[in-house]
Amino acid sequence: MHHRRRIYEGKAKIIFEGPEPGTYIQFFKDNATAFNAKKHEVIDGKGVLNNRISEYIFTQLNRLGIPTHFIRRLNMREQIIRSVEIIPLEVVLRNVAAGSLAKRLGIQEGTPLPCSVIEFYYKKDELDDPMVSEEHIAAFGWASPQELEEIKALSVRINDFLSGLFLAVGIQLIDFKIEFGRLWEGDMMSVVLADEISPDSARLWDIATDERLDKDRFRRNMGGLIEAYQEVARRLGIMNENELPRPKGPVLVNNVSVL
Ligand code: TMP
Repeated sequence: MHHRRRIYEGKAKIIFEGPEPGTYIQFFKDNATAFNAKKHEVIDGKGVLNNRISEYIFTQLNRLGIPTHFIRRLNMREQIIRSVEIIPLEVVLRNVAAGSLAKRLGIQEGTPLPCSVIEFYYKKDELDDPMVSEEHIAAFGWASPQELEEIKALSVRINDFLSGLFLAVGIQLIDFKIEFGRLWEGDMMSVVLADEISPDSARLWDIATDERLDKDRFRRNMGGLIEAYQEVARRLGIMNENELPRPKGPVLVNNVSVL
């Protein structure tokens, strides 16, 4: 299927060599993993939805002047991106207590935080991505102090933008994870947003019902993941009804009595 050189394969995406120097192709797989891939499933259509949702968000961020690696979407599963050197940190922004924070500090899920909180995790599968401090990041040179300042400032802007975007469609942005990369242009280097932003990497709750519209549906065996991601895409107005991937498998048919 692909004759391009594979640069890197992650749990949910593959990076291929791009059509021009300085570009890569980011391919969205249907794989869903949790707990460092101890839980794994293929969910038909997830990659297509994440590609579209992430395209929409990155396009808006580019328009706002927040630098990202995104160039354009190529097709259902692929986008062209600028080749960047990924900074080995997962940056998590939290507005409301949930997930690992709620568990670690014994705070009820859904409790609003007094102010948004940034956390850093070192990207290292063998270590299960441990949480690290700014001092660790500086001491081990994963990012320079200037890069870290840039990362924090961009993260706050991204949080403000995303919170408003989702609020407008009746969704509360609980938390999300982002990654950054170094973009080289000549001998100039800048820090840009990389990877993806999708219901795989953010907690999105329906404001009216607190219904989970994100990957917690998979992590917590709640079912209905594709339907939830479709609902996010539908509310953002980025997919035609007839374009939405239909989950395969048994279809519930109403009992119709024929007279
Ligand atoms: P956490 O509460 O499990 O630490 O997750 C915080 C946010 O980061 C949540 O929106 C899910 C996202 N996330 C990822 O995108 N990848 C990961 O590997 C983990 C652990 C969390």
